[in-house]
Amino acid sequence: MITVSAPGKLMLMGEHAVVYGYPCIVTAVDQRLYVRAKKTDDGKITVDAPQSKETKFVDAAVAKFFVWRSQIPLRGTKGVSVKHHGVSLSIRSDFTSQVGFGSSSAVSVATIKALSLVFAIPMTEREIFDVAYQVTLDIQGVGSGFDIAAAVYGGTLFFKKGGEVIEPLPNEIPLVVGYTGVKADTPTLINMVAAKQKEYPGKVNKIFSAIGELVLQGRDALVTKDWERLGKLMNFDQEYLRDLGVSSQKLEDLISAAKKAGAWGAKLSGAGGGDCMIALHSAGGKPQITKAIQEAGGQVMDVRTHAEGVRSESEL
Ligand code: PMV
Repeated sequence: MITVSAPGKLMLMGEHAVVYGYPCIVTAVDQRLYVRAKKTDDGKITVDAPQSKETKFVDAAVAKFFVWRSQIPLRGTKGVSVKHHGVSLSIRSDFTSQVGFGSSSAVSVATIKALSLVFAIPMTEREIFDVAYQVTLDIQGVGSGFDIAAAVYGGTLFFKKGGEVIEPLPNEIPLVVGYTGVKADTPTLINMVAAKQKEYPGKVNKIFSAIGELVLQGRDALVTKDWERLGKLMNFDQEYLRDLGVSSQKLEDLISAAKKAGAWGAKLSGAGGGDCMIALHSAGGKPQITKAIQEAGGQVMDVRTHAEGVRSESEL
């Protein structure tokens, strides 16, 4: 029996533009999803996931793992014949799929890593990323893979679509996270932005490129811990996201409450429409911003950024 965990994520800057090839910054959070895996002799794959209504990401991750396995030359120390074995998987999570922390990416990544350990077939981080990204594309049809990268590598990453660039960045980020209570539908929002880009290519492409510029500046500010500057850049990013039409009244309420309470900057995080907003706080500024977000109707999520990527919790 082995247990593997993968972290959730928050997008710091660059959402939507990242789907069009611009960079983004994503950080892993210390809320994790756990997969326990056990080899069985019955040739069956069983999945127990009491916290979720469906298991399509786990099922797809298992399928993709075996496809990948069949395509690589024999690897591993124990000469295990994978196809004669079954596996039972049991999933539990610190966070629900409602909040937008990336439960689908975390479960895909943790499942693939768990299978590689159970069958003693070593996989590199890059291989786990590539196989898990295929799961996203198969099921959602769209997506940059930033959430998969956060689940695999952890920490904070400067990232480009499909893993063209995955660069670790230093420093925990002082964030307050406010949940709107509304579940965002990521593929719908991505498609809505795509329709807008088709209709107004000049305007929308300019927005993407401006967001890309902000992300580059944001990376420098993060590296030098220039939080005041990073906050301003996040505010500009939020203005562009609003122009793209992906913000919501609830997000705006929480964002403006956080800013009034002294946040360096605040913005939505992820696809928009709901899920969470993030506010960058100064030393000592956290309690006031927390209170302001709660008074504006948000649920504050107690998370730390820069968490460790997928890892084995135990090997019994
Ligand atoms: O809704 P989330 O948290 O999965 O974030 C989506 C971010 C997008 O840039 C809109 C899509 C993507 O895959 O990068």
